[in-house]
Amino acid sequence: MKSLSAALALIAPVQAGLRFPCSTLTFQRLDPVVQPGSNPSAHVHHIVGGNAFNATMTGDVGERATCTTCQMAEDFSNYWTATLYFKHPTNGSYHRVPPVPVQPLLGGSNGAQGGLTVYYTQFDLSRDNLNQQPIKAFPPGFRMTVGSPTANSKNHAGLSYQCMSGSSRGTITNTMPTKPCTGGIFTTHHFPPCWDGKNLDSPDHQSHMYNTVTSEGFTNAPACPASHPVRVPQVAYETVWDTTKFNSMWPSGAPNPFVWSFEGSPTGYGTHADYMFGWKGDSLQRAMNKSECFYDGCNAITKQAMATASQCTVKDMVGEETVGWLPSLPGKDGSG
Ligand SMILES: *[C@@H]1O[C@H](CO)[C@@H](O)[C@H](O)[C@H]1NC(C)=O
Ligand SMILES: *[C@@H]1O[C@H](CO)[C@@H](O)[C@H](O)[C@H]1NC(C)=O
Ligand SMILES: *[C@@H]1O[C@H](CO)[C@@H](O)[C@H](O)[C@H]1NC(C)=O
Repeated sequence: MKSLSAALALIAPVQAGLRFPCSTLTFQRLDPVVQPGSNPSAHVHHIVGGNAFNATMTGDVGERATCTTCQMAEDFSNYWTATLYFKHPTNGSYHRVPPVPVQPLLGGSNGAQGGLTVYYTQFDLSRDNLNQQPIKAFPPGFRMTVGSPTANSKNHAGLSYQCMSGSSRGTITNTMPTKPCTGGIFTTHHFPPCWDGKNLDSPDHQSHMYNTVTSEGFTNAPACPASHPVRVPQVAYETVWDTTKFNSMWPSGAPNPFVWSFEGSPTGYGTHADYMFGWKGDSLQRAMNKSECFYDGCNAITKQAMATASQCTVKDMVGEETVGWLPSLPGKDGSG
């Protein structure tokens, strides 16, 4: 792929941390970070990553999982967000919206099935700064969330939507698009870059982390505060929700019919994401210590074909219909 590497060389020095696709692992009403032990949890999640995913997850996930839907074969982490649903404007039925692989600007999703794209950046999108700023990988057992389903105003920089038109991404907004998007709805979740260096979690799953980034894109994190002095990789997820088959059921001028699986505010401010660290051994640290691990990984870590990754599965532990045309969102009918 000479032309691709030439294009990359023109655009970026390719020294910027990791970016890789993960296929969908499962859609289930489980949440081992916010509601450990609950089966079912409050709302449906779209989950990617390792097959140690479960209602409760403790200890070293990277040692327990045996496969992952992510391209990086040593990454048994789990990554999840709420699931997008279409709420029929006249009859009120709900239908789950399928995720489709992100069409990256460069590089390709390599045959991922659904899923999302994960980033671990070191500085900004196209550079690292490792001589000045070492990046410390998360320890086993680490977990965090960003955003809140109950938010009804802007909650955190880096939680955004783009109304795609074809493959063009469109303007970044913090609210759900208000008109049909011919290319689907692109969502981004950026996690904070600063850790307190001690706690694997905190009661709200957020206060062991601190955010110093105030803009929406992939920008370098300003210095971490003394309370949260450890600079960790900047984790981000990108998901494309293929809304196209629902657009014709959205009458002109009617309010946005796309809702998250918890419903929440129709503005979409409740968008949030969860992270469960699960890289095997020191593999993430090895990658973060290098400057050349972008797009395609690097010699420091092992990749697998997405056709292999997509075969990794977990059991349906909840046993409920989440797709169909449903009279109510799973968990919102009084039974959950
Ligand atoms: C999930 O947890 C249950 C109950 O603790 C356990 O029996 C099961 O083996 C776990 N599954 C995985 C994939 O870890
Ligand atoms: C609502 O509309 C959809 C699309 O036409 C249909 O498939 C579904 O069965 C309808 N739901 C009800 C309760 O009529
Ligand atoms: C990463 O780099 C740090 C700082 O140079 C070093 O102490 C550590 O041993 C390295 N870790 C790995 C896994 O390469």
